[in-house]
Amino acid sequence: MSETAFPPDFRFGTATSAHQIEGGQDNDWSAWEQLGRIKHGEQSGLSCDGWNRWSEDLKLARALKTNAYRFSVEWSRIEPRPGEWNLAALERYRRMVDTMEQLGLEPWLTLHHFTNPQWFSRSGGWLREDAGATFARYAEQVARVFPDVSHWCTINEPEVLTELGYLAGYWPPEKKSLRAALRVRKNLLLAHQRAADVLHRTIPRANVGLANNLVLFEPRRPWSPLDRLAATLSDRWHNRWFLDHAQGTIDFVGLNYYTRTRVGAGFGQPGNFMQASVPKGAPVSDMGWEIFPEGLGTMIDFAAQYHKPIYITENGVADADDSRRTQFIRDHLAVLLQKIQEGRDIRGYFHWSLMDNFEWREGFSPRFGLCAVDFKTQQRTLRPSGIYYSNICRTNTLTVGD
Ligand code: FCB
Repeated sequence: MSETAFPPDFRFGTATSAHQIEGGQDNDWSAWEQLGRIKHGEQSGLSCDGWNRWSEDLKLARALKTNAYRFSVEWSRIEPRPGEWNLAALERYRRMVDTMEQLGLEPWLTLHHFTNPQWFSRSGGWLREDAGATFARYAEQVARVFPDVSHWCTINEPEVLTELGYLAGYWPPEKKSLRAALRVRKNLLLAHQRAADVLHRTIPRANVGLANNLVLFEPRRPWSPLDRLAATLSDRWHNRWFLDHAQGTIDFVGLNYYTRTRVGAGFGQPGNFMQASVPKGAPVSDMGWEIFPEGLGTMIDFAAQYHKPIYITENGVADADDSRRTQFIRDHLAVLLQKIQEGRDIRGYFHWSLMDNFEWREGFSPRFGLCAVDFKTQQRTLRPSGIYYSNICRTNTLTVGD
């Protein structure tokens, strides 16, 4: 049995996002959900009722002995009409951040986590010429209310938003166009850059980053030059593009890691030109994503080329019966510790997620929570893996072996 300590000021947290937990949304997703696009015809609806139960949930995060909490604020609540600011909503988030600070949870604020106000999406959304400026105006309003928040993610997984919304047509606004995707990723980058600039000017000590979804791409048939090309192109498009272009404007690399994907050159529909597969017998989550902890190490090495502190801003597993999550956490943290020992500057880890929530198009069936949520009664129940994670947070130590 071996025990390894994390660095003394290591951040241990959990991550959530507004649309996935708050309930009662009026944004592009809630509108789209009404069209019956979500699995089993579900809608985010009340979700975890986090809009009302935030104080209970923050206490839960604290009871887990975490010392940081990553959350997002909902643009559609804060700016319900263009240029009109909902002070009550800002005030509600302000109270939430005050409570985090009182509880000893460092707030990590994300400005955009996939959802948009309807006025924005109806007028072209991320294809709008002025999308960047519009987003920066919103960022400025939020920044003014939180001069004490030191860690900010401007946009969560811009590459996923681009691919699923504009290339694969799997998410709103269901576009399947390379041209649209190219334009959207440019606008998302610009939005990030302008927001980062606003944040740095308004809060000089702010640490600003993105949260990027980094996937380990491997060729399905390593001997095939076409499959190898597919893996290289996927890596460039998905992993590199935003970070390469945003390098000068970020203070840390926010790394969301879930899985490895084996890609091959295929002839699917547009947006699906790289067909992904999981090798036979490989451990998978309830969503079919391969569980591959070593991939976190590879992506940490990848992130290190940007010469900024690295935070794992998301990592987790859909595991309804909680049979894999404890080992998942142990194995991923062991890889992370190994990378720290090799000299990588990794300063924190946020588990996705504090509790079960609305998993986008897949609805409520994927269960990512350290706490189970009964969506009928809103009861939260800590899972055994949650107790396991909390022991790591409490002792700042990982124990491996028997
Ligand atoms: C990430 C998203 C997050 C959640 C997890 C499972 O890609 O950022 O909102 O859905 O996947």
